[in-house]
Amino acid sequence: MNDGENTRLENIADTEYEIFALLKQRYSPRVFRENLITKTHTHQLFEAARWAPSSNNLQPWRFIYAERGTDAYKKIYDCLSDFNKSWAGNAPLLVLAIYKTHLDNGDENFHAPHDLGLSLGNMAVQAQYLGIGLHHMAGLDWKKAEKEFNVPKEYHISSAIAVGYYGGDSNKLPDDLKEQETADRKRMPLSSFAFNGDWDA
Ligand SMILES: Cc1cc2nc3c(=O)[nH]c(=O)nc-3n(C[C@H](O)[C@H](O)[C@H](O)COP(=O)(O)O)c2cc1C
Repeated sequence: MNDGENTRLENIADTEYEIFALLKQRYSPRVFRENLITKTHTHQLFEAARWAPSSNNLQPWRFIYAERGTDAYKKIYDCLSDFNKSWAGNAPLLVLAIYKTHLDNGDENFHAPHDLGLSLGNMAVQAQYLGIGLHHMAGLDWKKAEKEFNVPKEYHISSAIAVGYYGGDSNKLPDDLKEQETADRKRMPLSSFAFNGDWDA
């Protein structure tokens, strides 16, 4: 059902309750269309991230992004785990997601990873609206990436993201990844994480 180009947008989540269509359609692709993300769309992704809420409006998120064909893209790619290298080169844009770990008074900002996550949530919805898929990757050598990109010491690279337009040809993937790409998407039931009034209630 999911062979070939541009079919996966049809594979929407089987939700328990009705939700916003863009959220149902979102998934983490391993193949993308060949074309680069337009400059306007790239800016719109970061604009969406910009308007996320954050603790004390500190906006601790930072991003480094690079288009396929640039030295920066190769530098990010070279920091990915071998598994992620096996598919992430299909993405026309690679991004490093970074947060500022400490407040100006030297205290740790415990909310910073949370706030980076909120900004990425905003970005994901905007991306979906534009027909763009994001695939987050924890599998990267962040120490190497922090060195390569001269990231200041009060910042931490949390993850990398492969970004591209949906609709790539899943036949380009090796069999195991193709299987993952086309598998039904699964989640825990609501009852196992949303507790009414008490833990596990
Ligand atoms: C913080 C984070 C790190 C992730 N790291 C990887 C990764 O290194 N490699 C990978 O292939 N997928 C990675 N993923 C993708 C998840 O496996 C994926 O989101 C999850 O299986 C749910 O699938 P879906 O996004 O298609 O609904 C990561 C996702 C997140 C949010």
